[in-house]
Amino acid sequence: MAALLEVKDLQVSVADREILHGLTLTVNQGEVHAIMGPNGSGKSTLSHVIAGKPGYEVTGGQILFKGEDLLEMEPNERAAKGVFLAFQYPVEIPGVATMNFLRTALNAQRKARGEDELSTPDFLKRVREVSASLGIPQEMLKRGVNVGFSGGEKKRNEVLQMALFQPSLCILDEMDSGLDIDALRIASEGVNALRSPERAMVVITHYQRLLDYIVPDYVHVMSKGKVVKSGGKELALELEANGYAQYQEAAA
Ligand SMILES: Nc1ncnc2c1ncn2[C@@H]1O[C@H](COP(=O)(O)OP(=O)(O)OP(=O)(O)O)[C@@H](O)[C@H]1O
Ligand SMILES: [Mg+2]
Repeated sequence: MAALLEVKDLQVSVADREILHGLTLTVNQGEVHAIMGPNGSGKSTLSHVIAGKPGYEVTGGQILFKGEDLLEMEPNERAAKGVFLAFQYPVEIPGVATMNFLRTALNAQRKARGEDELSTPDFLKRVREVSASLGIPQEMLKRGVNVGFSGGEKKRNEVLQMALFQPSLCILDEMDSGLDIDALRIASEGVNALRSPERAMVVITHYQRLLDYIVPDYVHVMSKGKVVKSGGKELALELEANGYAQYQEAAA
């Protein structure tokens, strides 16, 4: 299996405070990795740095994506190369209708890859199919991006983007938080439909429950800015039973 994402000894600071202290993680094509770990251990920070969110200073290490230096790329270049992050806290974009946002983002990515823009009918057909499968009403797509969306609606909108953009690396940061029981199942089915030998997923979650739906190949525990333990899917069950105490000592 070819390595899709290689994070090597990554050190990251925010506001002069080091948050990631030498984090190493390799994700191969076709794999699903779950990242768990206590609040504040740096899971979202890692996802933001991979996606290229501003405000983080990389002070050491590297990130390769398909063998290329990801940290040298602008956030939009990363998206065009196939990096996608479903945010823990999706941002509201008032004044930009969701439908227009989806179309602009999708076509910008296609253009950057040297592909033709999708025609309006083709685009509308795809959005209708995907949103219907995720239980997102068409009316919602006319509203500003995430503006006034409920917590669960925002999460569904993230999965909608992912299903449309068909990224090669999908990072889901607490996709399960705020989703009702049915929405969790539907969103998970949307994610599972994207599983393929070419694609990989990194699923950040606090709860084993999500991993019943999206069954990971590997589970990693982060504590204090590092991966302190890696294992198979049984590691999530062990965490649910025993908590993080032993790993927090290991990281200290
Ligand atoms: N802009 C910032 N300024 C100061 N500290 C920050 C900033 N962003 C993140 N941090 C700190 O970095 C640490 C890691 O935060 P991060 O959001 O990555 O944790 P997390 O593992 O995603 O936690 P959770 O499970 O609660 O989502 C926290 O202590 C947080 O307060
Ligand atoms: Mg987080």
